[in-house]
Amino acid sequence: MAQNRKIVIENSADQAARTAAGLFRQIACEVAVGQNSCRIALCGGTTPRALYEHLAGGVATDNLPWSRLEIFFGDERDVPPNHPDSNYNTVQRTLLDNVPIPPDKVHPMHGDAQDLSAAAAEYEKTIRSLVPAGAGGLPRFDLILLGMGGDGHTASLFAGCPAVKERRKLVTAGFVPVIGRERLTITFPLINAAASVILLVTGLDKADAVACLLNEGASAAQRLPAANIQPADGNFCIVLDNDAARYVRNRPN
Ligand code: 6PG
Repeated sequence: MAQNRKIVIENSADQAARTAAGLFRQIACEVAVGQNSCRIALCGGTTPRALYEHLAGGVATDNLPWSRLEIFFGDERDVPPNHPDSNYNTVQRTLLDNVPIPPDKVHPMHGDAQDLSAAAAEYEKTIRSLVPAGAGGLPRFDLILLGMGGDGHTASLFAGCPAVKERRKLVTAGFVPVIGRERLTITFPLINAAASVILLVTGLDKADAVACLLNEGASAAQRLPAANIQPADGNFCIVLDNDAARYVRNRPN
């Protein structure tokens, strides 16, 4: 296992969400105090909703410097921001409406743009202008939160799509045949430049993909997009519940 990769397995999905929320708070507090701003890319889907709700629920008592967080998105669907399928809409309802992050510090992707490739290029420019570069020369997020589908996709990096092999662009757009829709997504060069990555995966429907990810090592990267999450010089924490970890060999706990 890469020396910077940690696996945490919790008894339930809610406990996994709480653990991920605790890691989020820890990173945000450490970074925002040290460098006055903490740049975070959030993911969509259903799994992180509990995480966002736990973060929002603790706002009155945590010492998290919310006004110093700057929020970005790892991917977006081809819908307007007020659509129930929008990742921005999910994050807004479960987190942003309940915590004091300044609106000008929240940067949604424009999934409803007429030209999604232009929107992807524009979003990359936004990231490059607001997220300081790391030693490798790429924008280095303080934290990128990711989920994983049962097919092993992460963000909107789906097996067989050009975006999975994109190594020049940091944000790209494209049609995803398996879902029949266009998607905007960050790419692995940007993910792997991050200082910290949290992958939160729960549920029995993810158990096969998690087993492939954790039992097969680097060889899984060809067919499991999430196996390409390999922060070059960052911390990587995979937070699971027992169901998602059902078939993991050599469990850490
Ligand atoms: C999205 C997410 C995506 C998500 C997985 C898992 O836009 O849907 O960014 O990568 O993390 O699809 O989704 P669930 O959490 O709903 O299972």
